[in-house]
Amino acid sequence: MTRPKVFVARRIPDEGLNAIAAACDVDVWPDRLPPPPEELRNRVRDCDGLVSLLTDRVDVDLLTAAPKLKVVSNFAVGFNNVDVPACTARGVFVGNTPGVLTDATADIAVTLLLAAARRLGESATDAKAGRWLTWEPLGWLGRDLRGRTLGIVGMGRIGFATAKRLHGGWGMKVLYTARGPKADADRELGATRVALDELLSQSDFVSVHADLNPTTKGLFGAAQFATMKPSAVFVNTSRGPLVDQVALAEALRSGTIFAAGLDVTEPEPLPPSHELYAIPNCVIAPHIASATVDTRNAMARLCANNLLAGVRGEPLPHCVNPEVGGRT
Ligand code: DGY
Repeated sequence: MTRPKVFVARRIPDEGLNAIAAACDVDVWPDRLPPPPEELRNRVRDCDGLVSLLTDRVDVDLLTAAPKLKVVSNFAVGFNNVDVPACTARGVFVGNTPGVLTDATADIAVTLLLAAARRLGESATDAKAGRWLTWEPLGWLGRDLRGRTLGIVGMGRIGFATAKRLHGGWGMKVLYTARGPKADADRELGATRVALDELLSQSDFVSVHADLNPTTKGLFGAAQFATMKPSAVFVNTSRGPLVDQVALAEALRSGTIFAAGLDVTEPEPLPPSHELYAIPNCVIAPHIASATVDTRNAMARLCANNLLAGVRGEPLPHCVNPEVGGRT
């Protein structure tokens, strides 16, 4: 019996790679940088399965180049790099890795929130640069968390885990936006679902956890920052394009908001010359929310399980377009 052919678009942890290699003929892209689109199309030409990353665009051109493709297993919970309707139309399953990166991502949201609120990036840079002259009563004053209001934009798994940490640890009052009510958040955190404008005007901390789709692209612009408190801290661990970065830079420079912590930007990587790096009250991490050993291992296992199910024509443990199954 011939083994399924699979292209893995980057080296992923062995826990996943070994499971795939045990059952399939695997071609792994060896470079640190992603395969260029044309190379990606060439590599998947004869493949039954593809492991993609959020840096790999899976679009109609790729699907057309890969007539045998049965499954795209995305090594991420987000899947905005995949044209899901096009995959569904072609009968290709799309898998993702929800759940296993919830805690790691919530930890980074809290880390960025604290770092921005307590001016950690700015003060550490100042210390290194010789600007730590003495202990100053008015030096690097930040914002307290205790008892303040947290606004969670997008109360999914990660939003909930972030709110739970901040409600439990600092007694923060929680407001949130979501497509529908969230009984767990209301019951366990005493949270209240509100409209976005109300959330922005009442929150001391705003943490973004909505996915990127046509309705959330550019959700945070000049008007939204102007609605926030001048003391507010803004955190984004979801996707960069939700934020108008020109408007964010202006809001930070002008004191419209107090500080920001970003794990995601547009583009990624954000070039070192970008104006946001020069703004002291903006902390930027290079998209590291899921970057822990255990989390990446768990993502690799889940990604492999999705891929192996897909090449065998079985239901994926985590599928974003299960309706494909109904078609075959
Ligand atoms: C995801 O899985 O969508 C994350 O952004 C990767 O860390």
